[in-house]
Amino acid sequence: MVQTENDPGAGSGTLLQVEDLRVEFPTPSGAVEVVAGVSFDVRPGETVAVVGESGSGKSVTSLAVLGLLGPGRVASGTITLRGEELTGAGRDRLRTLRGAEIAMIFQNPMSALDPLFSVGDQVVEAIRVHRPTTRAQARARAVELLREVGLPDPERRMRSYPHELSGGQQQRVGVAMALACDPGLLIADEPTTALDVTVEAQILALMRRLQAEHGAALLLITHDMSVVARMADRVVVMYAGQVVERGRTDRVLAAPAHPYTRALITSVPTVDTGRDVPLPAIPGRVPNPSEIPAGCRFHPRCPEAVPRCRTEQPPVVGTPDGGESRCWLSDPAAELAGAAGATR
Ligand SMILES: Nc1ncnc2c1ncn2[C@@H]1O[C@H](COP(=O)(O)OP(=O)(O)O)[C@@H](O)[C@H]1O
Ligand SMILES: [Mg+2]
Repeated sequence: MVQTENDPGAGSGTLLQVEDLRVEFPTPSGAVEVVAGVSFDVRPGETVAVVGESGSGKSVTSLAVLGLLGPGRVASGTITLRGEELTGAGRDRLRTLRGAEIAMIFQNPMSALDPLFSVGDQVVEAIRVHRPTTRAQARARAVELLREVGLPDPERRMRSYPHELSGGQQQRVGVAMALACDPGLLIADEPTTALDVTVEAQILALMRRLQAEHGAALLLITHDMSVVARMADRVVVMYAGQVVERGRTDRVLAAPAHPYTRALITSVPTVDTGRDVPLPAIPGRVPNPSEIPAGCRFHPRCPEAVPRCRTEQPPVVGTPDGGESRCWLSDPAAELAGAAGATR
């Protein structure tokens, strides 16, 4: 596919649209905004990765799409699925959409599985919740799904309990359950973070293959740029509740516009170091949502910050692939005189 972000291409259009989303959580000292004006879209069949360090607001953004914010609330903005507004949708409608239209793959597959029921019972249940089928039909479909996700001897696996499976096998069952209702949108929040790198590669390959075969779009949440590189058509880089960069994965990896994106790319864990070895860290940490710095939210950690970054919020500047970067340095028109540490 050779097209820019703005080129809709044949048969696409938008499946999920998130527009200027703001999410607040109540705290003893008042409401705190943890997602601060996030916008992105996902088209049918594509993979969009949301990447950023822990605490950036990735999970909260996906929970907002699912209508599962708990004590949190959407303070403003819109989330639409195939044109249907979700932020105002009722509990019952959201429950219907989850599973039927949107399915979730979790970081810890055990959170999707009930330890007290056999794998077969749970996949059958996932099939029958949203679709009237006989038990026999659902069972046959469950066996087929377990075969599709690569579990050996699926007939026998139907009778296994979750604890009898390895982490990788559990996540395969998680993928099977997510696909049970042929959702248009899969949301996977760090689906391979708990797995070792070999199993991670297998699960990512499986997700890619099944996504293509089922024609589902994938919203993939990760902190790992190497996962983005392997999986995503487009990428949304989040920092401290905002999108700092967005664009086609090939462009973002080859020519990252934002200093935070550059830092994330150079901190990719390699297969050699494995994930028990700490990443070459970006010094400092994501600010607490109640202590957001003035100016650019990344400026205290940014190796390229100029004085203006400390006081003025950066503009959102377009990139050649139809993406964007939220950075003063991306703005060719910005007045950056007095840069490099000088005060104004
Ligand atoms: N239930 C909650 N109540 C208050 N704050 C929350 C809640 N859930 C998440 N947050 C805060 O929202 C911010 C973003 O969290 P999260 O979306 O989980 O980040 P990520 O998934 O990118 O690691 C964090 O500062 C986190 O502490
Ligand atoms: Mg998270």
